[in-house]
Amino acid sequence: MGALAGIYRDGARQMGAAMRSIDDLDVHGRRVLVRVDFNVPLTSGADGRPELADDTRIVAALQTIEELRARGARLILVSHLGRPGGERVPELSMAPVAARLSELTDAKVTLAPAVVGEEVKALAEALHDGDVLLLENVRFEAGETSNDPALARELADLAEVYVNDAFGVAHRAHASTEGVAHLLPSAGGRLLEREVRTLTGILDHPAPPLVAIVGGGKVADKIGVIGRFLQLADVVMIGGAMCFPFLCAQGHKVGESICEDEDVAHARALLAKASDTHSPQPGRARLLVPSDLVIGDRLADDAQHRVLAGVEVPAGWMGLDIGPKTVERYQREIRRAGTVFWNGPMGASEYEPFAAGTRAVAEAVTDAPGLTVVGGGDSAAALAHFNLEHEVDFLSTGGGATLELIEGASLPGVAALEGAGVAGAVGR
Ligand code: 3PG
Repeated sequence: MGALAGIYRDGARQMGAAMRSIDDLDVHGRRVLVRVDFNVPLTSGADGRPELADDTRIVAALQTIEELRARGARLILVSHLGRPGGERVPELSMAPVAARLSELTDAKVTLAPAVVGEEVKALAEALHDGDVLLLENVRFEAGETSNDPALARELADLAEVYVNDAFGVAHRAHASTEGVAHLLPSAGGRLLEREVRTLTGILDHPAPPLVAIVGGGKVADKIGVIGRFLQLADVVMIGGAMCFPFLCAQGHKVGESICEDEDVAHARALLAKASDTHSPQPGRARLLVPSDLVIGDRLADDAQHRVLAGVEVPAGWMGLDIGPKTVERYQREIRRAGTVFWNGPMGASEYEPFAAGTRAVAEAVTDAPGLTVVGGGDSAAALAHFNLEHEVDFLSTGGGATLELIEGASLPGVAALEGAGVAGAVGR
């Protein structure tokens, strides 16, 4: 650690392949650039201005923010919001985020007028211990998503230390998540650590039985996740619109339900990897698909709907939720799980007639005796809708990042924080 003296604390662990932590950094009196994921849903306020629809991701970053402030750091927070495509889009300004952050912390929070530049540099240099400067939406800069070294350098020049706490965007190799990590002494924040530890924990040493519940839209988006769980879990249960390609692949009629040929091919390949449900094969999970459905004539709160005893969807109808027999079977598996991972709703749960399956699964997950982990924006939104978001052990703040980690991909934002790190100049 000799060459890293100064910012890395004495005796900091040389973690090899593991990620460095903020315990390894001396931040007192230093400007610390913290990448957070404040990509929060927005809605239009009474005066037509954007307002936050949900502050979960801001609350999730508070532990790192408060800990660094308590240790005397001067914080420069940076995040993206939406996909402005390298242009300054006023509706995607960080202003509503800055306002909410000011309410959640007693820090002095200043919103910078831009991401980088002389004015921003002067604001960063004027920070006192414990102050917070929030940069404008980093995706207003085209160099962010292209991981432009010039933008990474400008970001690095604002600070002396870099902390990445943005798990939700750790699967992107962008200037503020990856490029800058190579230019400053750097480490992962508390949220990033907790996400990586929890998600790798359920893959590496789950308490058995491991039950994975995968729902939502397209099979193509989740083949990797389902495939990985077919190797690691005891049972994988499918719900949501993605059950129809599986039912199609088994030769059932799906009516007007969404079912693309590409997804049917993926479903067929996944079914072939699953264990026989009647005589389980070691190293292969059982793959459960619905045995009954709730069907509707359209997606609306006042849609015509009924329970279908089997899975042969008549013409003119769509399958929009799992049925009561399926719910009972899925709940039985969930209630005896040692570890549960849930990603994706079981039906069109935003519409009342098609919410029962997702609600019942959410309730079973919250009752499960073992560790319960929920990932992905839609499942989190469903939990919040049923007021159950505080009843699970871990609610991942990642969408794509969570899925990629489970698939076994290396996340560039995490990989950049492994190894010996940069010595950098102390600067004070
Ligand atoms: C997310 O919401 O999943 C993350 O913030 C990443 O956003 P992105 O998909 O626009 O990169």
